[in-house]
Amino acid sequence: MLQHLNFLTAGESHGKGLSGILEGFPAGVPLSEDIIAHDLGRRQKGHGRGGRMKIEQDRAEILSGLRHGKTLGSPIALWIKNNDWENWKTEVMAHEKPVNDIPAVTLPRPGHADLAGVQKFGFTDIRNVLERSSARETAMRVALGSICRVFLRELDIEIASHVVQIGPVKTVCEVIEDLNELNEQADRSAVRCLDLKLTQKMMAHIDDTRRQGDSVGGIFEVLASGVPAGLGSYTHWDRKLDARVAAAMISINAMKTVSIGDGLDVATAPGSEVHDEIIKVGDMIKRATNHAGGIEGGMSNGEMIRVQVTMKPIPTLARPLKSVDIKTRESGIAHKERTDACAVPAASVIGEAMLALILTDAILEKFGGDSLTQVKAHLAATGALT
Ligand SMILES: Cc1cc2nc3c(=O)[nH]c(=O)nc-3n(C[C@H](O)[C@H](O)[C@H](O)COP(=O)(O)O)c2cc1C
Repeated sequence: MLQHLNFLTAGESHGKGLSGILEGFPAGVPLSEDIIAHDLGRRQKGHGRGGRMKIEQDRAEILSGLRHGKTLGSPIALWIKNNDWENWKTEVMAHEKPVNDIPAVTLPRPGHADLAGVQKFGFTDIRNVLERSSARETAMRVALGSICRVFLRELDIEIASHVVQIGPVKTVCEVIEDLNELNEQADRSAVRCLDLKLTQKMMAHIDDTRRQGDSVGGIFEVLASGVPAGLGSYTHWDRKLDARVAAAMISINAMKTVSIGDGLDVATAPGSEVHDEIIKVGDMIKRATNHAGGIEGGMSNGEMIRVQVTMKPIPTLARPLKSVDIKTRESGIAHKERTDACAVPAASVIGEAMLALILTDAILEKFGGDSLTQVKAHLAATGALT
């Protein structure tokens, strides 16, 4: 669904590391490894994460596409080392056949890619599936998205996120227009919740659930301000901005619904409460409200983009569900791995990265330009209807 930009990731969860390439990105964008490290660090946080995040201190090395602090317009290649590889390289994840036989994982976890994955590839060891289907891969998406975030910031477009719900504990969404302030406030909460009292309740719910050997999901919201009107298009199904945003969000591991603006509430409310009246503010044409979440007819309409995403509970359970052994066909209980009990806060940072990638693509599609200077000039010349 990307029209101009391309990106690719590679790497297994306990492999040597993750690789990523961002291609079609303009020249002249200021970039450093420290900038990317900031967002990678934010992805690693959040109450409910498992032991893995204590092992990793994610940092992306920039291998190409950068000179003297500015992007070159050539492909940007990144590398994130998996510290945990040291513990896996000689046996379970060895590139060569190991000296000792490694027992295969044969009890698929309900809710994971395990069973459908072995059926698809004809594997007899579920590890061949779970290593790549793991959300470890999203660390690279965050790194690539953070490059796009720098570009967007140069155009005064900001992206932020916060957690709206963990299990049954739900907050009423506050509107904070300044997304830097919103993100700073969310970053201060161990669950990225803007309400500090609810932060405590959410943490307690995660702890209770974990104690019972279970896992918990939730909802997060991603927002973008300063987005010019007219990104995306109503002319083709696959150029619609809402379709592109939805595909990007649902592609994140464990995401099950994506809604834009008022989302599910639009099913019950009458039209007069759902559609945003068009008003004059001075010489500008504006909206009185933003129920649409900044997208109408598959295009940005100049208002704040608001996307809510639902994450299901993590499938690996300390008290595993029933399963069937793919080798013996005997009933058993699902395989157990070291696991998170809740990863909704981390997922919201991944959601920011996916929105950054999609908006960068849509900006480059509409305004073009090989360099940041050219994109800025094109943007200034277009003058969106205000
Ligand atoms: C940040 C993040 C961390 C995750 N951590 C785990 C985990 O520790 N254990 C697990 O079983 N699933 C975890 N998941 C979810 C699985 O990766 C996901 O459910 C699985 O890939 C199946 O994909 P699906 O749920 O989209 O069908 C995580 C997801 C995200 C976004």
